[in-house]
Amino acid sequence: MDTDALRSALDGGFVREIRWVPETGSTNEDLLVAARAGEAAGLVLMADHQTAGRGRLDRSWTAPPGSSLLLSVLLRPDLPLEQVHLAVSAVGVAVVEAVEALGVDAVLKWPNDVVVERDGWVRKLGGILAESVVAGGSVDAVVVGLGLNVDWPADRPPEVADLAVTLGDLLGEPPSVADVAVAVLRGVESWLGRLGTAPGRATLVHRYRDHCATLGHRVRVEMPGERFEGVARDLTADGHLLVEVPGEVEWRPVLAGDVVHLRTVAG
Ligand code: BTN
Repeated sequence: MDTDALRSALDGGFVREIRWVPETGSTNEDLLVAARAGEAAGLVLMADHQTAGRGRLDRSWTAPPGSSLLLSVLLRPDLPLEQVHLAVSAVGVAVVEAVEALGVDAVLKWPNDVVVERDGWVRKLGGILAESVVAGGSVDAVVVGLGLNVDWPADRPPEVADLAVTLGDLLGEPPSVADVAVAVLRGVESWLGRLGTAPGRATLVHRYRDHCATLGHRVRVEMPGERFEGVARDLTADGHLLVEVPGEVEWRPVLAGDVVHLRTVAG
């Protein structure tokens, strides 16, 4: 892949350099190592295949070689730790808007799943994983990784066959990974560029809300050592979920965890 062509298809914003490798362990891990070694922000690493791809909550992320957009972005945001989640929101909004432009109606399941819902049928199209390098109590770097299913062979491992969907499945004719990369990275540049100001962050959260399928749902929140149910009502200014829990006066903020959608409620 000609990464210079890819870079020049962008708008000259945040992305400083794009590297595309045929195979690596994990693009997130590679950029965390680079960040600790002093690499500057704005580096994007893409891979055709990962041998140790990571998902959230210590899960693995697997995809057949050449089938997916697998990329990580290195950021050094000037944000307090509690606002770092907004980098995930920025990439999530960028992905939903990029696939929308390709003709796919996707939504965000808080915090990081890109899903397609049709008549009660829900399938995962992509996921986002942010990992931070924290030094002296402040955030030194954040690596945000995206896995987006583009064109998988029909013969899929049973553990994903009923859960995943690809752009190829939804569009009939799959787009090229490079074209999807350009569309996503344009949005990533645009939304990450808004993280530096309060109005920009507010616009991002507003847009995330518009695309978020979790709000209005009864949810079960699962965190290590704790789980509770309630109704997902809103997002905080930092992009965290606010859940109305029966018997509690204030909506409970959820900073991280797995959210299971139970059933939709009105109001
Ligand atoms: C999730 O659990 O939904 C998040 C999955 C994130 C996967 C991507 S693929 C590119 C980057 N490198 C990794 O090892 N993980 C992320």
